[in-house]
Amino acid sequence: MKIEELLKIFKEVYGEGKEPIRCFFSSGRVNLIGEHTDYNGGYVFPAALNVGTTVLVRKRNDKKICLYATDLKELVEADIDKIDEYKNIRWGNYQLGVVKELKEAGYEVGGLDMLFHDTVPHGAGLSSSAAIECATGIAVYSLFNSKPIDKVELSFICQRAENRFVGVNCGIMDQFASSLGKKDHAIFLNTRTMEYRYVPLKLGDYKIVISNTNKKRSLAESKYNERRSQCERGLEFLKRKLNISCLGELDVETFEKYKNLIDDEIILKRVRHVVYEDDRVLKSIDVLQKGDLEGFGKLMIQSHISLRDDYEVTGFELDTLFDEALKVEGVIGSRMTGAGFGGCTVSIVHKDAIEEFARKVGENYHAKTGLVADFYTFEIDDGAREIEI
Ligand code: GLA
Repeated sequence: MKIEELLKIFKEVYGEGKEPIRCFFSSGRVNLIGEHTDYNGGYVFPAALNVGTTVLVRKRNDKKICLYATDLKELVEADIDKIDEYKNIRWGNYQLGVVKELKEAGYEVGGLDMLFHDTVPHGAGLSSSAAIECATGIAVYSLFNSKPIDKVELSFICQRAENRFVGVNCGIMDQFASSLGKKDHAIFLNTRTMEYRYVPLKLGDYKIVISNTNKKRSLAESKYNERRSQCERGLEFLKRKLNISCLGELDVETFEKYKNLIDDEIILKRVRHVVYEDDRVLKSIDVLQKGDLEGFGKLMIQSHISLRDDYEVTGFELDTLFDEALKVEGVIGSRMTGAGFGGCTVSIVHKDAIEEFARKVGENYHAKTGLVADFYTFEIDDGAREIEI
């Protein structure tokens, strides 16, 4: 939808007004490698997409936050001083959580009319929620605070909103990518130190293709939390001899030397995934810097296999997309992206093979699962920002 159309809807919902209307955007993300590492102080390598959440926003002269979404066509009104009362509303808790966290972090907030328009497919593991949070965060902050927003701080505020208000125990990756994304670059982030670096994605004749299983992710949250606590147990085993505070501090060599401390088959597999996945991220940065895209593709494949066999977060649908992708000529790498248990895969596909990829993978996926997959060739874009209108 064009900004003009959104403006029209805004005025229909909220009426003409004297205060100026401003527009903000934040992105969905795809993680290229480094999965289930961010809550272990490990490395991640996500990139922001050119789909996300657009927000139109205008000041009110009272203390109400009003939310309207173009897809739901429903208005939510909340009192800024009683945000906790709205925790269980049908929608809008991402936005209200962010307002609450901004306020608690000591920033000015005030009454606003807001219109939301999302283009990230929902429930696909492409962080539509982080896009909503970061778009809300930058919009609310910018209307009441004059200094430009610190985007790292923005990502922490949004993560806290999701952890404490929405009640999802996510790591920092999604909000960080949504907030700090940069066109044609992926972000190499160390989640232990929060040091990060932009790495140019020089894909040449290749494109990033995202394939959506369109599988409902019903158990995702409980399984996600289960994996988190399994990692914590792994850390406890290792701490008996090692002076470490998170699995991200462990390199492959140290892990191999001390893995016998982990007295539980399942926990050992989970920790092995985290340690080797971290190592794959480091190797990925190295091969990409040398322009070795095929080397990167191989690391993506190893990542999927580890997520399938050791971390056990893929499932039949993601594995089918992965297997079918690798059968297509012109594909140099593929893996699940995001939390797993459904959601999407990300593949590196030669530009001339994309049509065939979508057709063949789509047909075989449907034959095997009964589901219809979607295929996207989104661009890698900037993260949270104001859009001039
Ligand atoms: C979800 C979480 C992230 C991260 C990934 C798995 O997307 O929100 O913090 O843990 O899963 O890598």
